[in-house]
Amino acid sequence: MVVPVRVGYAKQRQVRLLRAAELAGDGRVDSGPAVVMVDRGVELRPLGGSGRPASLGRASARLAAAMSVTILVGGQWGDEGKGKVIDLLADRVDMVVRSQGGNNAGHTVVAQGKEYKFHLIPSGILNPSTVCVIGHGVVVDPKVFLAEVDNLHAQGISTANLLISERAHMVMPYHPELDRLGEVQRGDDRLGTTARGVGPAYEDKVRRIGFRIGDLQKPVFMEKKLRFVLRLKNEALTKLYDAPPFDEKAILDEYLGYAERLHGMIRDIHPLIRDAVASGDRILLEGAQGVMLDIDLGTYPYVTSSAPTAGGACTGSGIPPSRIDKTVGVFKAYTTRVGYGPFPSELTDSLGEWIREVGAEFGTTTGRARRVGWFDAAVARYAVDTNGIDSMVLTKVDVLDEVPTLRICTGYEWRGEYWDHPMANISHLKHCEPVYEEMPGWMAPTRDCREYDQLPAACRGYIERVAELSGAEVDVVSVGPDREHTLVRRQLL
Ligand code: IMP
Repeated sequence: MVVPVRVGYAKQRQVRLLRAAELAGDGRVDSGPAVVMVDRGVELRPLGGSGRPASLGRASARLAAAMSVTILVGGQWGDEGKGKVIDLLADRVDMVVRSQGGNNAGHTVVAQGKEYKFHLIPSGILNPSTVCVIGHGVVVDPKVFLAEVDNLHAQGISTANLLISERAHMVMPYHPELDRLGEVQRGDDRLGTTARGVGPAYEDKVRRIGFRIGDLQKPVFMEKKLRFVLRLKNEALTKLYDAPPFDEKAILDEYLGYAERLHGMIRDIHPLIRDAVASGDRILLEGAQGVMLDIDLGTYPYVTSSAPTAGGACTGSGIPPSRIDKTVGVFKAYTTRVGYGPFPSELTDSLGEWIREVGAEFGTTTGRARRVGWFDAAVARYAVDTNGIDSMVLTKVDVLDEVPTLRICTGYEWRGEYWDHPMANISHLKHCEPVYEEMPGWMAPTRDCREYDQLPAACRGYIERVAELSGAEVDVVSVGPDREHTLVRRQLL
């Protein structure tokens, strides 16, 4: 059966197959009902299937997709516990797409008593039927990526459903070194980067001298381009930083070695994503870091080099904003930040130290102690407003169990003026006075609560005030590291 669909512009775009045929998991062409596109009565011939991985199953022939794309963003300065939420949702979605960042990110997921650490691979990989995609906007260090793959295999986790966009850029061996040397050169003004080379990799992407994962499949091109790029890099290394140069052949051998291992995972993911969206598959776009580390919206220059926002999730995956159904923001019940830069509600006293210890606030990636502060509702509101957050997840509520009096920052005062959002001028943000609201703590353990209503009244009062001040509902509350510690008031998906 053929269902014709009229599309005027279709001819110009060469491939105009929506659902003429689907590749079944074993490569066979499925003979189910077909939808072909026609242009002024002429049937357009399909050029091929989308190469959907087996676990994505058969897509429906619906054209108007039920919107089912959810974005997950960090609402603060990263480390809000997004990994835990992704893990929780992974078995409710068909696909998880990581959209930006690199192995500067890191999260630990505890599932069935086992601990897994992730830097690049979406934690959705723990669910065997979820397709995990590393999107265009990510920068991939192939060495780190393959080590993560090996580690998963050693723990008995399959990576058969793991794909990397051909368009994703790579971290090259000189990037971490340039990251480190750049920080040294900045001296007191250093940013406190993770030194994983992520910033320099994005610099090269924008300067249009970056290497994309797909380049690994073009050794001649790779060699020619590396000769040119390495001249620039070695000049900077030797003349600017007085550091040793990198060897072209060593890099080429190393990276072409990775090419072999990555071969089966590298894909032009556009058809896969397009078809998944058109079919109404449930897709989760996983952001790394947080809104306040966004290159445009964050506390520049104390930010990361990508866009960890809902907008970045769209460009980093190729899914248009009009297809986004929901944006979920993950927030900690207090605030943390790693690295330098303004942090108005920071606690530099013994209470801050205590929260750091109880909350185990040490980085998954670098092990650095995180700076700790009160929940900043001005930051949260800004995150809600700039990302269209519909639903909040509040994590680590249990860490505040024994704090007698809690504070929430509601805005800032700077030279007699009140600001209800983080100001663009980071010097003002650094020197402003946070305005606080005080609330009684609940002084009772929350770890054993399994329903929202079992939380102490003062705890619920705190959560509801956070929601009110932030401008979105808190739909999920987390009171511990395991899945069972997640209290769902309203399903996110
Ligand atoms: P970069 O992303 O390594 O260049 O670091 C820039 C800033 O972003 C530094 O302050 C880092 O500590 C911070 N950062 C980068 N990734 C993360 C993350 O996953 N969680 C928290 N902070 C991060």
